[in-house]
Amino acid sequence: MSWKEDVNTVLERDPAAKSYNEALFFSPGLHAIILYRLSHSAYRKGNLTMARAVNYFSRFLTGADIHPGATIGKGFFIDHATGVVIGETSVIGENVSIFQGVTLGGVSAEKGKKRHPTIGNNVTIGAHAVVLGDIKVGDNVKIGAGSVVVKDVPSNSTVVGVPGKIVKRETPTLKIDLRHDQLPDPLVDAFVDLNHHLVELERRLVEVEEKLRKEK
Ligand SMILES: CC(C)(COP(=O)(O)OP(=O)(O)OC[C@H]1O[C@@H](n2cnc3c(N)ncnc32)[C@H](O)[C@@H]1OP(=O)(O)O)[C@@H](O)C(=O)NCCC(=O)NCCS
Repeated sequence: MSWKEDVNTVLERDPAAKSYNEALFFSPGLHAIILYRLSHSAYRKGNLTMARAVNYFSRFLTGADIHPGATIGKGFFIDHATGVVIGETSVIGENVSIFQGVTLGGVSAEKGKKRHPTIGNNVTIGAHAVVLGDIKVGDNVKIGAGSVVVKDVPSNSTVVGVPGKIVKRETPTLKIDLRHDQLPDPLVDAFVDLNHHLVELERRLVEVEEKLRKEK
């Protein structure tokens, strides 16, 4: 991933960025990501002092503290950057967007263990949301501003509140273009139908789990 792609990500996702130069020179989130990539490269080569030095400079410059050991995929976007904290063993997928104050934190101080969250692809994490522990956040998840998430989150859902609760589950759409031959495909229809049932069953299971937890 080159810094040019990072600039394009800002242009795509920040409505306030009006030009390439504005995105390049005045986006602290972009600077935090570019500096993170430098520090991560030093970290991987075992140059830990250099990695931490770049990380420290980045924190000073952008207000974001991204540990050089974190693993971050393509298309990462940080808006505003101030107060963002991403812990050492965090893993972030592709096309993830986060806002100011987001924390991906640990709940244990055990060295050498994975202590931080794993975030899927196409996830959005709202301002000041906190995601804690070695939990998994699935693909296409939205986490509301100010939420505190401490448990796994299934794909295609929206979580809000403290502690985070699922308020929406969306049916993933099958990306098959049936207009190719203008003919319906009964097999695809059957899969789509099955998929709907599966999502509904998962939703009900979550409800039952919630109910049982409350009754305990
Ligand atoms: C969660 C979020 C992504 C909305 O997703 P959505 O799919 O559009 O969901 P909706 O707006 O339909 O909200 C669903 C429910 O959650 C509630 N909700 C939404 N955001 C919430 C939040 N941050 N905290 C608590 N509840 C929230 C809504 O009131 C609604 O409740 P209801 O069903 O009882 O009416 C959005 O509200 C959010 O928090 N985005 C972060 C934006 C941000 O950080 N911006 C910073 C810019 S500087």
